[in-house]
Amino acid sequence: LWQEVPLAPPDSIFKLTAAYKADTYPKKVNLGVGAYRDDDSKPWVLPVVKKATEKLLRNEALDHEYLPILGLPEYTAAAAKLILGSDSPALSESRAVSAQTISGTGANHLGALFLTKFYRFNGAKKVYLSNPTWANHHAIFRNVGIEPVDYPYYNPDTISLDLTGLIGSLQEAPPRSVFLLHACAHNPTGVDPTEEEWDTIANVMLEKNHYAFFDCAYQGFASGDLDKDAWAVRHFVQKGVPLLVCQSFAKNAGLYGERVGALHIVSPDKDTADRVRSQLSVLQRSEISNPPSHGARLVELILNDPEMFAEWKQDIKTMSGRIISMRKELHRLLTQVHNTPGNWDHILNQIGMFSFTGLNAEQSKAMIERAHVYMTGNGRISMAGLNSHNIEYFAESLDKVVRG
Ligand code: LMR
Repeated sequence: LWQEVPLAPPDSIFKLTAAYKADTYPKKVNLGVGAYRDDDSKPWVLPVVKKATEKLLRNEALDHEYLPILGLPEYTAAAAKLILGSDSPALSESRAVSAQTISGTGANHLGALFLTKFYRFNGAKKVYLSNPTWANHHAIFRNVGIEPVDYPYYNPDTISLDLTGLIGSLQEAPPRSVFLLHACAHNPTGVDPTEEEWDTIANVMLEKNHYAFFDCAYQGFASGDLDKDAWAVRHFVQKGVPLLVCQSFAKNAGLYGERVGALHIVSPDKDTADRVRSQLSVLQRSEISNPPSHGARLVELILNDPEMFAEWKQDIKTMSGRIISMRKELHRLLTQVHNTPGNWDHILNQIGMFSFTGLNAEQSKAMIERAHVYMTGNGRISMAGLNSHNIEYFAESLDKVVRG
């Protein structure tokens, strides 16, 4: 039995964490996985999360009963408000359906599963993914029988958005195509459309009756402002582009292993929303029965308590602020100290957790093999892995690799 099972390659991102852990070189640097680290390379438990945990522990009325199938209602309602905005027409008209999911990956999966069952695809089941995108998107859609197709997103020559390519692809795709869009802090490029560009994208999507499958894993990480980072989603809702949003609290609340996420499907009216909710419930039941409670309870406390919510915003600013200061320092080291060949302005201009350095696969490999700096083969680095102790070593190593 199982003799015919082929050997699968290890995950392109998590294999780096394992290799980094096994490496004994003292100056090793992990810029692989998108997980926030403090200035001492340590995972950071947000102070507000510590506070919420203490509050949970004091609550003797809590038990370990099952949550409802679609999750903790106080959590999903607050999560929907956070992404859609408390004044969202989708909320006031009761046409947003929310399900608590196993973080953003689970939201993507449940959303994809819902589409494969109920979306009226125009011909073959396809999803348009930005080229490049988070590697896992491909597997998630393939698993439910939806074939990924690339759309142009990033121009390596200008190291910026390929708006012409993107719009061309929206126009050429058959009507009612599904486009996955990164709501903010695009992974892996760190390149987001401007508000004006988002508006142009929304207009074409409306004209063509396309479906927007938003993935929002980094709300707060792009600008440091939760509302600003939700702008594209809210704008699309306002314009009436049909959409769903996948949401994660892994990064912005540092709750990676707790798997706290949500899927929000915006429907045209309440009746439709009720039917969508009933089907989501059936799908969720067969997949996970009911979502885990601990992380959702923490986030619910933070979102629904004005004082803790304010403190969380500060914690987000601490994380995004440190990342921005690393961008400035890296840019300074490359351009003013090492005079590294090439233009490095994109390090400053890109936003969020990641920077797409422009290093090719060979150079990225050399960073690992020669300098013990772990980064993905597409040239992506997690800015959160840089700090005041390792940034000089990183800049020096990058400079050497670029010079060949
Ligand atoms: C990443 O892209 O590094 C993160 O989203 C972690 C993951 O799950 O891949």
